[in-house]
Amino acid sequence: MTIHRKVTLEQHKRFSESALWRMQRDYFEKEGINAWVSQVPFYITSNPFIAASYAKIAMSFMRDWIKAHPESAEQTFYFLELGTGSGRFSYLFVKALLALMKSLNNTSIRFCYVMTDFTKHNMQYWQSHDALKPYIEQGLIDFALYDMEGERPITLINQNKRLSSDLIKNPLIVFANYIFDTISHDAFTVHEGKLHELLYSLHTDESNIEHLRPQKMEKIEVTHNIREIKNAYYGDAPLDDLLEEYKAALHTTNFLIPIGAIRAIQYLRKCCNDRLLIISTDKGYSAIDQLDHLGHPTISFHSSFSMMVNFHAISEYLKKTGGDGYLQGPRKGIRTSVFSSSFSLNTLPETKTAIIDWVERLSPSDYFTLHSRVRDHFDTYDLETLASHLEFALWDPHVYSKLSPRIITLLNESPDPRTVASMVQNMPRLAAHYYHMPQSPCVLFDIGLFFETIKEYASAKRYYQEALVVCPDAPHIIERIKTLQN
Ligand SMILES: C[S@@+](CC[C@H](N)C(=O)[O-])C[C@H]1O[C@@H](n2cnc3c(N)ncnc32)[C@H](O)[C@@H]1O
Repeated sequence: MTIHRKVTLEQHKRFSESALWRMQRDYFEKEGINAWVSQVPFYITSNPFIAASYAKIAMSFMRDWIKAHPESAEQTFYFLELGTGSGRFSYLFVKALLALMKSLNNTSIRFCYVMTDFTKHNMQYWQSHDALKPYIEQGLIDFALYDMEGERPITLINQNKRLSSDLIKNPLIVFANYIFDTISHDAFTVHEGKLHELLYSLHTDESNIEHLRPQKMEKIEVTHNIREIKNAYYGDAPLDDLLEEYKAALHTTNFLIPIGAIRAIQYLRKCCNDRLLIISTDKGYSAIDQLDHLGHPTISFHSSFSMMVNFHAISEYLKKTGGDGYLQGPRKGIRTSVFSSSFSLNTLPETKTAIIDWVERLSPSDYFTLHSRVRDHFDTYDLETLASHLEFALWDPHVYSKLSPRIITLLNESPDPRTVASMVQNMPRLAAHYYHMPQSPCVLFDIGLFFETIKEYASAKRYYQEALVVCPDAPHIIERIKTLQN
């Protein structure tokens, strides 16, 4: 029997300085786009529904802003997506925004959407992605390397311009999905009216060590110590005031301050004349009572790891420094927050209405909950229900590919012609939402199958050929094309 010893990797570290964050970065740096091949969850923040919700809020904001500052109509609105990852959200967002601009007759609004990440591997993937090319060529999408844990200048690659107050005349619109949970946090304990810093020690089995480094983050064990805080912890009045408020309001608990996110916001404020609108979707807490009576912060491992985001702290920090925050009411899953810097959200009537409609009333979180229930039982639904669900999911290729086998079965069982006609009508929409990623199903092939099943062979062949461009040499596609030729 092999007996493995436990190795202590580090002791009594402030959480934001723990080696865990370095390991997290190493993971994303090494995996690049492969992080999204059955490893890091991303569907929930990368679907047409959330993209359309953000587009409605952003569009309302630009309209409100131009109404209040007519001269800003001449200036470009810059969008900055933080920790972009696969780029699927970016693609769907730009598509949804352009469609909204067209339907609202607002095509003269100028915008540039900047996709950022700290790793160049992700950027290289976006730069050569066929779906993004038309937008890149029109100057609607640009890229930048931006490490949120640092304060390095952010340079737009294609425009070769620095993101600065000289360039950005309108407020900078920032999207932060599943990223505030990924970058550094500090941890604290409140007990009997005292505030303590929560210090982290890391241990692992020696079998998890190779080349002097731990290999699997999920095999790391964490132990905690506490150290009482007597002086201003951050030396930053709004943050220290917030800690004091938590100390006074909370009974016995552990809580996090998303310091990586707050520092990034501080830096971005400097780049844009302190005018920011931020929309963020993540798992987290949005009210002070949710922060009480919590155990040690849970580290969720899923190849990388993530923490619950204290959205309440971000909102309070911004309110204390001239900004504002809208925090979604309680939900079991993810939640969406909207923050601003240097203006109040209440001064923006269209934006406020869009937030109520798309953050509070039917949010990305609600979409995902409802979609998940249908996904888990789609084998029991008829074609009408599946078509309605696809409409609700805004003809999402990811959803269609999951439902495709059931749809084909139902199409072979004398389907209602009106439902089939409606599906035929929506197939181009479905195809237009497709953003190819490695080892993921190709919806263009599934659309080909749909048309072949309803005996529209010319359309079937066309979609099979399009699928072959995305997945060259795929034997199942070649076989279908050959069958249709015979
Ligand atoms: C959990 S993924 C989220 C990706 C995407 N936003 C989504 O919702 O699917 C985190 C992303 O943040 C990037 N990232 C990690 N640390 C970062 C940092 N310090 N600065 C900027 N991006 C970072 C990773 O490369 C990865 O693409």
